[in-house]
Amino acid sequence: YVFSAMQVVDNFARETKEVKNVLLDEGKPAINLYNLRIESDLDDKKTGKKYGLGSSAAVTVAAVRALCKWYGLTLTTPELCKLAIIASSLVKKSGSGGDVAASTYGGWVMYRAYNREWLEAEIEMIESGDSSLHKLLRKKWPRFEVKRLKVGAGLRLLVGWTGNPASSAELVGSVKAGVKAGDLTAHNPAKTSAKTYAKTYEDFCVQSEKCVQKIANALENGNIDALLSGFAQNRALLKDLGEITGTLIETPKLTRLIEVANGAGLPSKTSGAGGGDCGIAIARAEDFDAVSARIEEEWQNSGIEALNLKVAEFDESSDLSLIEQRKDDHIKLACKQYNAHAESGFEHVRFIPNALPQLALSDVDTSVSVFDESTKWDTPLYINAMTGGSKKGENINESLARVAAKTGLAMASGSLSAALKNPHLEETFSVIRRFNPHGFVMANVSAGASAEQAIKAVEILQANALQIHLNAAQELVMSEGDRDFSAWLNNIEAIARELDSMKVPVVVKETGCGMSARDVLRLKNVGVRAVDVGGRGGTNFVAIENARRGRKSDYEFLDYWGLTTVESLLDIAQCDEILCEPRDSSDSCDSARMQVFASGGVRTPLDVVRSLRLGASAVGVAGEFLHTLINEGEDALVEQIESWKAQIRVIMALLGCKNIEDLRENSRILIDDKPCVI
Ligand code: FNR
Repeated sequence: YVFSAMQVVDNFARETKEVKNVLLDEGKPAINLYNLRIESDLDDKKTGKKYGLGSSAAVTVAAVRALCKWYGLTLTTPELCKLAIIASSLVKKSGSGGDVAASTYGGWVMYRAYNREWLEAEIEMIESGDSSLHKLLRKKWPRFEVKRLKVGAGLRLLVGWTGNPASSAELVGSVKAGVKAGDLTAHNPAKTSAKTYAKTYEDFCVQSEKCVQKIANALENGNIDALLSGFAQNRALLKDLGEITGTLIETPKLTRLIEVANGAGLPSKTSGAGGGDCGIAIARAEDFDAVSARIEEEWQNSGIEALNLKVAEFDESSDLSLIEQRKDDHIKLACKQYNAHAESGFEHVRFIPNALPQLALSDVDTSVSVFDESTKWDTPLYINAMTGGSKKGENINESLARVAAKTGLAMASGSLSAALKNPHLEETFSVIRRFNPHGFVMANVSAGASAEQAIKAVEILQANALQIHLNAAQELVMSEGDRDFSAWLNNIEAIARELDSMKVPVVVKETGCGMSARDVLRLKNVGVRAVDVGGRGGTNFVAIENARRGRKSDYEFLDYWGLTTVESLLDIAQCDEILCEPRDSSDSCDSARMQVFASGGVRTPLDVVRSLRLGASAVGVAGEFLHTLINEGEDALVEQIESWKAQIRVIMALLGCKNIEDLRENSRILIDDKPCVI
């Protein structure tokens, strides 16, 4: 396994330009000159007992990981996993790769095996020079799936070792032979044909897949009853399979192990391929101490040794696959929860019509000055912060960048936090600049970022402005989210100061819970000159995180947290201090004026004009544009934006307003059906 890992990583490194330029004395690259030292605690050194915990997979993954590091190759977790599976499959073809995935990812994972014949053919293509390891890592592997499960600390594992070694290869071979040959007359007097067995095996796979899905859900929900029934189902399926293929999967000791655990109310199953070695049981963390002592004693009486093992922890913040999964979840759930009728309060804002507009459509000028007089946008509209940090995010950023370039709209990237931790992800954001070299681009960081990180984010995108997002509610509902917001205002002050000296404007934005006049005032007092209210009613990150938690109703009561976009704008509009208040004697009223951008549930050009009338300098749209892009494609989004641009002009003409200032000062509205004219 170690030699295979060395061979695979050496070859991978040879294919890679990034390899450290280490040279031998005679000038040849020192591609495979290193010492590997291996230590393991997986088996018992003193007694020589081998527990069957997947040490072959572990050593393969460890060697692949160490060598990639040595070569300076930055791989994502899924890529590392694939490389280790390739190395492992070159030694043993029958492995599922599940143990390799567990070793690569750490924590709880749900695993679906790749198609072995497919991988074998792919490796042959590499060997014959028709493909490369790089190409193979980038491909989608048929059937293959590794998904992290969010199990948390609520469940704990008990592991029992039966003392009998098991050979997974032999067991899998035996099942395969049974399925293929149909030669099982000893076990099946009815002499079932090979075809029938293949059919039975197919049924087994379908049922097994359902069962695994059920178990994964039960683990994430901490549902012991569902686990009990899922494990029982899985056991019955394996029993049938063992019988029809003449393979002993559950040995008498494993049966005893499971029955003892079940007797104490714990779900339990054979581990690996069965046939010996270990079985597992799962307990609620709060019951663990009480039940484990009892079970371990009974196991011991039956010659089963309890092993002191825990599910491996991993660093969530630096795990690329987790970041990618989160980013992809956000896109998927934002689209799934999208509602064409947002609840941001716009429906309560009605314009009083102007029956005598007294101007021509061609008189209308929708341009706005943003940040300072020198920055002018032709349309008071921008594509708000969304994504980056995953392959899918990169593709969306590329599309949005092309759309922004074609339509002339400003656009913001999603939060660059992931790229600031993992430079490997920078390209998923910088693609925006590559496809929109001349447009107005805003970088986006969290309020937890330092001034240094904010500058780095601006550099990655060569950004014209920086958004700092506020998302306390989202972080608190997100199980892996931040819990400490005490430094936010200080961070924002430091970023605003640094970027001010670099002449890069800063916008502090909410992400769907809105901002009050008081919030805006506090930001103004630390030197912020622009905010985006990011109000409630459109994309709802509390609801998205509630859906990601997979646990019903945990924080659902927060789904409607915050101020709608309209409420935020109205609260801010009535606060003179925000809109015009010199900070010191040198500050003229105008230079201290806060710019307010509106976003959150903007679904129509009329919502844009309403926002402008309520005081917004420009209006950001995220969910609506994402919905169009995902469902109808890039051209449809360009078309939608072009229509909106024209329709904004039409609405302004209808109101008799020739520019945004005119709209703000001279158009009249009613709020909430009450004749309250402001
Ligand atoms: C967002 N939003 C967002 N905001 C932010 O400041 N940083 C970010 O990384 C993200 N990520 C993100 C992902 C996805 C998929 C969506 C849809 C949105 C929030 C966004 O900029 C905006 O504030 C809210 O979505 C509200 O506007 P809409 O979507 O209702 O128009």
